[in-house]
Amino acid sequence: MTEKFISISEALKKGNGKVAVRGWIYRERGSNEFKFLVLRDSSDIIQCVLKKEKFKKQWEEIDKIQVETSVEIEGTIKKDSRAPTGYEIDVDETKIIGVSKDFPINKSLNEELLGDRRHLWLRSRKMNSIMKIRDTVLRAMREHWHKKGFYEYHSPTLLGMQAEGGATLFKVDYFGKPLYLSQTWQLHAEAGIFSLEKIFTIQPSFRAEKSKTSRHLTEYWHAEMEVAWEDFDYLQDDAEQLIKHIVEKVLQERKPELEILGRDWKKLEATIRKKFPRITYDYALKLLKEKKKISIPWGKDLRTIEEDKLSELYDTPIMVRHYPKIVKAFYMKEVPNTEKGKETVFGFDMIAPEGYGELVGGSQREEDIEKLKKNLKAQGEDPSKYEFYFDTRRYGSVPHGGFGMGVERVISWICGLETIKDAIAFPRTMTRWSP
Ligand code: 4AD
Ligand code: MG
Repeated sequence: MTEKFISISEALKKGNGKVAVRGWIYRERGSNEFKFLVLRDSSDIIQCVLKKEKFKKQWEEIDKIQVETSVEIEGTIKKDSRAPTGYEIDVDETKIIGVSKDFPINKSLNEELLGDRRHLWLRSRKMNSIMKIRDTVLRAMREHWHKKGFYEYHSPTLLGMQAEGGATLFKVDYFGKPLYLSQTWQLHAEAGIFSLEKIFTIQPSFRAEKSKTSRHLTEYWHAEMEVAWEDFDYLQDDAEQLIKHIVEKVLQERKPELEILGRDWKKLEATIRKKFPRITYDYALKLLKEKKKISIPWGKDLRTIEEDKLSELYDTPIMVRHYPKIVKAFYMKEVPNTEKGKETVFGFDMIAPEGYGELVGGSQREEDIEKLKKNLKAQGEDPSKYEFYFDTRRYGSVPHGGFGMGVERVISWICGLETIKDAIAFPRTMTRWSP
């Protein structure tokens, strides 16, 4: 080989002359005189044609090339409208780097078998496209918060207390003592804002979700922010700006990948253009009753089915806020002067369009230690485990709040996926923990 290796997408851009590329065989078919190889690398695919007359000595080896063999190729690229990406390489030289025999992935595999062979399925164009979009989403998040002066800050994964209810806690045997995997960074983030004021993280959270749904993982990536001094509206503004920035970036950089996934990306444009409706929980119940004939007694949480029905009424994400206090976490600040038995909190959920469920959950935080203790006791928690948390209220407490966004939920919606499992390379659910 004499040429310097370039990526397949660079070769496609070049469009003529000599090129050298390397990658894996995506498809192959042969005849007596030709071998057609579709080569893939991380960037794209390209058809390559090898003529037997040019490879007399090597032909036996070339004839045996199978899917996923890794090869180096040099030849002349030219336009060919019949080829899958519009160009073809007429190969002069090839070198087999690693053989592959009977690659165990094919169209007939069901979801379970693809799950078992996930480490190989990652090479598919589908997973390659999703993982590129995931990269853009994560970069857009960091970009958004760094532009606004936030610091990236991290909290521990091993915790002695819970924040989002005992039902979804994973217990860990920590030298004979019980600890839990963190469900959120939040309690330790609240301590951090007294130093850094505006902080964010993107790190895994853990939930022992016993349900098998298309939107729950047991280990998911959680993008969270926490700010001092700001009010409830600021949190919703920031969540909206964040989502808009992510979608804008994906539409700028990743339309080819969305096309590969068959995603109708035009549906995402309203999210950038329009302001997200902000409605109260009470109004959500009214809408559900009047427009969807679903009656929910006041005080019940909105379930998947109700969120989906609500999302049918809008083409952008919506914010539902002022939920009943009894359905929300112990740390959410109570709305003052509500009717007895109808207490609500300064909490909001952002619900995705197209039935992709809750993308974001956030709230203004309760500052009153006595109220926090009362809420914890009502959940059967021992407040003495939360003394460090109460200290944040004892020494210069300030109004503050934050939210958490499910990274895979956002990716699922943007990519139009059938299951959240495809939004992450190696998903973890109740029934899937390997490879
Ligand atoms: O609504 P959640 O439980 O809120 C919190 O954890 C807050 N402490 C966040 C904060 O204020 N810092 O979770 C936040 C988001 C949800 O809106 C959802 O998008 C995602 O995390 N999420 C999950 N994603 C995938 N699988 C699961 N099992 C999830 N549980 C929550
Ligand atoms: Mg929530």
